[in-house]
Amino acid sequence: MKAKTMFYCTECGNELPKWAGQCPACKAWNTIVEQPAETKRKSSAAVATAGERRGSIKPRLMDEVETTRELRFQTGMNELDRVLGGGAVQGSLVLVGGAPGIGKSTLMLQICQNLCRFAKVLYVSGEESERQIKLRAERLGVRGQELYLLAETNLDDVVEAVTALQPDVLIVDSIQTMYNGELSAAPGSIGQVKDCTMALMNLAKGRGVTVFVIGHVNKEGSIAGPKVLEHMVDCVLYFEGEQQNSYRILRAAKNRFGATNEIGVFEMGDAGLTEVPNPSEMLLAGRPQDTPGTCVTCVMEGVRPVLAEVQALLAPTSFNVPRRTCNGFDFNRANLLLAVLEKRGGLMVSSCDAYINVIGGLNLDEPAADLAMVVALASSFRDRPVPGDLAAIGEVGLTGELRSVNALGQRLSEVHRLGFTKCLVPQRTGAKLEVPDGLQLIKVRNIREALAFL
Ligand SMILES: Nc1ncnc2c1ncn2[C@@H]1O[C@H](COP(=O)(O)OP(=O)(O)OP(=O)(O)O)[C@@H](O)[C@H]1O
Ligand SMILES: [Mg+2]
Repeated sequence: MKAKTMFYCTECGNELPKWAGQCPACKAWNTIVEQPAETKRKSSAAVATAGERRGSIKPRLMDEVETTRELRFQTGMNELDRVLGGGAVQGSLVLVGGAPGIGKSTLMLQICQNLCRFAKVLYVSGEESERQIKLRAERLGVRGQELYLLAETNLDDVVEAVTALQPDVLIVDSIQTMYNGELSAAPGSIGQVKDCTMALMNLAKGRGVTVFVIGHVNKEGSIAGPKVLEHMVDCVLYFEGEQQNSYRILRAAKNRFGATNEIGVFEMGDAGLTEVPNPSEMLLAGRPQDTPGTCVTCVMEGVRPVLAEVQALLAPTSFNVPRRTCNGFDFNRANLLLAVLEKRGGLMVSSCDAYINVIGGLNLDEPAADLAMVVALASSFRDRPVPGDLAAIGEVGLTGELRSVNALGQRLSEVHRLGFTKCLVPQRTGAKLEVPDGLQLIKVRNIREALAFL
């Protein structure tokens, strides 16, 4: 006989006899989840009286809580370790999300190579058979004595295997295929995914197992439909990139043990993922020379400066409202810069369609890229190339003025390292700026001066 289950709303806690698309109490959509009736939550009143009766649960003084530094271990992939904030933390739960075929399973299998030198690793796959995983491991050259494989989708069996084997690291590929037999919902539904993640979280915290969970990103770009999982886990990593090109970027969306602004860059090949320690070189490879509409800038990805190529194409519009498309650059920011360029730079860009692209799948969300965007737009509008050895760094304000950016010294060293000899920067750069030998700074106060120089 099937175990009894109950339904409740994750937004307001309202309980329902059956599943519904919308919560009748708070009117939120897609928030009703199912869980076993045995684990039914007690009402607040019942909880309060139970607490009084026992009186045994005592909060502790913060000063009395003993702390030990979190134990970290290296995964063997420096790029991944950096994104994790200096290695994986023991007893943490890491969610690795990404589009189908991007290389999530490959990345996880590759880190097993190093992990199983000093730890017992259990790789649970609900998507592939043990044979398939073995074949992939052979292709990637992964072998290890303490690497165990399990093709299983029932979470109870997985927990049982973990209890018996006592691994240090558990990899679950993927959370959408795991299910709790007590729930009637299909694997991959919100309730199942939440329930399974909770169980894995208990394994991580209770037994000190480091758990890596792979999650599929759906059409809207979130893991398992709603972003519920992101709140539950310690660390959320997104693996991004385009199927057509071989570069993959790993970024942290959340990290309870480190910063979230680092990125890791990989290249996908026949033998799996290889690290790209110098992303600037990769991002600038194949850059066109003497062509209008492209300019190089330097953005900070965490503590690392990375050069990025910004491209713009302006063409006379044949529509009433000009078309604007952006790839890798904020759409509203691009519109703002086009307006500033027209009003303060005197270029009639409103009669043009504008297509904007950032090379290499990079997402530029830093104002420091503004000036390069303006330069690329102006270069395309006037159909005149930007000198190949020139980079541009600076934030553009609404009056067309240029504002200084942080870590300019570091950015300039990176620009110089990759062979650029000139750099457009804001007039005010701070007093103690160290400029590398051989790099000429062109200080400009506003975009008019920048355009005049070009
Ligand atoms: N020889 C090869 N055989 C198979 N895949 C290869 C090979 N060389 C490169 N690849 C790449 O590996 C990718 C598959 O990687 P992987 O299975 O790790 O992706 P995934 O993110 O786990 O996908 P899914 O969501 O389907 O599980 C392919 O899309 C392809 O780009
Ligand atoms: Mg996979």
